[in-house]
Amino acid sequence: MFSKNSVIGVIGSGAMGAGIAQVAATAGHTVFVYDNNSKSLEKAQANLKSSLVKLLEKQKISAEQSQSISKNINFVSDLTSLGRCHLVIEAIIENLEVKQKVFSDLEKIVSADCILSSNTSSLSITSIAAACTKPERVLGVHFFNPATIMPLVEIIPGIATQSNLSTEVKKLIDTWGKVTVIAKDTPGFIVNRVARPFYSEALRIYEEGIADMPTIDWAMKEFGGFKMGPFELMDLIGHDVNYVVTETVWKQFYFDPRFKPSLSQKRLLEAGFLGRKSGRGFYNYSEGATIPEPKKDEALGKLVFNRILAMLINEAAETLYYQIASKEDIDLAMTKGVNYPKGLLKWADEIGPKTVLKTIQDLYDLYQEDRYRPSVGLKRM
Ligand SMILES: NC(=O)c1ccc[n+]([C@@H]2O[C@H](COP(=O)([O-])OP(=O)(O)OC[C@H]3O[C@@H](n4cnc5c(N)ncnc54)[C@H](O)[C@@H]3O)[C@@H](O)[C@H]2O)c1
Repeated sequence: MFSKNSVIGVIGSGAMGAGIAQVAATAGHTVFVYDNNSKSLEKAQANLKSSLVKLLEKQKISAEQSQSISKNINFVSDLTSLGRCHLVIEAIIENLEVKQKVFSDLEKIVSADCILSSNTSSLSITSIAAACTKPERVLGVHFFNPATIMPLVEIIPGIATQSNLSTEVKKLIDTWGKVTVIAKDTPGFIVNRVARPFYSEALRIYEEGIADMPTIDWAMKEFGGFKMGPFELMDLIGHDVNYVVTETVWKQFYFDPRFKPSLSQKRLLEAGFLGRKSGRGFYNYSEGATIPEPKKDEALGKLVFNRILAMLINEAAETLYYQIASKEDIDLAMTKGVNYPKGLLKWADEIGPKTVLKTIQDLYDLYQEDRYRPSVGLKRM
C-alpha cells in the first residue's frame, strides 16, 4: 500500500506536527505540512533549520542528508496542497469539532484511496472518523513528544476502520525507525492510560502525608530505576497537559475512581503553576531556589515504590484483560513511549503476580475504595 514514494501530509505545524514531518522527511518521503496559522508555519520552518544544524554538528546526519530532509519538507498555507498525499497525519488542536471539520474538508481534497490519520492523545478515533464519508480509511497514529526522539507510535483502528489498514500503516511507520504497537480505540490508548497511577498514586501518597514529594521521587528512581520521579516528571510535562490528560481519561471512563484526578494538581493548574515552563510547579525553579532533599529512609522508600508499581501493574493487567493490546505491545509501549525501565507485565512476572496482588488487595481492604480493586487480569496471572 505504501512505499518510499508515498507522499505524506501533516496538518498542524506545532510541537507534534513539526516533529512528525521531520521524521517522515528523514525517512525519505516528500512531506507537505499545512497550518492555518502562518506564524506557526514560520516557527516550524525556523525550528527545522536549527534542528538540522544541531544534528549536523553532532554528526548525527551528513550535510547531504540535511539538505535532502529540508528539500523533502514543503510548508504550505493552503489545505488543497495536500491533494497528492497518500497518508495524512493530523496534529492540530485537541478539539473534536475542529478536527472533524478538518477531516471533512480534507476528504474533498485528497484521492479516494488516501489514508487519513489523527495524532490525538485523548479523543476517540471513531468519533473523528464519524465526520468522514469514508470512515474506513481513518485511524489513529499517536506519536510521543518529541516525535523525533521518542520511538513509540501507537496505531489505533476505529470501529469502522478497514481491517488491513493498521497493519499497512504499522509497516510504513516501522520503516521510519519507530516502534509501533496496536491499541484499541479506548481512552488513553495504552500509554496515557497505563501510566496514570505513576502520577495519581504518587499524589495520593503525598496528600495522605505518607511521604513528601522529594522522597517519593527518590524512591521511584532508587528502587524502581525510573529516570525521573512522578513530581519531577509532572513538572516537566506541565500541569496544563498532565492534569488535563488525567481528567479526560477519568471522564471518558465514566468517572471510574481508578483514574480520579488530584485536587493538589488541579490547584497548581488554577494558580498557573504549570511546572518548569512557568518557573514553579510542585517544585520551585526560580533562580536560587533549591529542591528539598528526600528522606532517604529505605523502608519508607520501598513502601512507596511497591505501592506505585503495584498500581501500575494492576492497570497494565486490566488493559491486557480487556484486550486493549497484546502483552508484548503493552510492555513495549511503556518502555518506548515513557522510558519505563522495564515492561510492567514482565516486571509482574519477575516479582510474582501474587505479591503484587497482595499489595493491591491490602490497599483495597484498608480503603474500601473501588480505586484499589484488583484487576481480574492480575488475579488470573
Ligand atoms: N504535545 C504533546 O505532548 C502531544 C503528544 C502526543 C499527541 N499530541 C496531540 O497532537 C496534537 C497537536 O498537539 P501539539 O502539542 O503539537 O499542539 P500545538 O499547539 O503545538 O500545535 C497545534 C498546531 O495546529 C494548528 N492548528 C490549529 N487549528 C488548526 C486548523 N483548523 N487547521 C490547521 N492547523 C490548525 C495551530 O496553528 C498549531 O500550529 C493534539 O491532538 C495533541 O493531543 C500532543
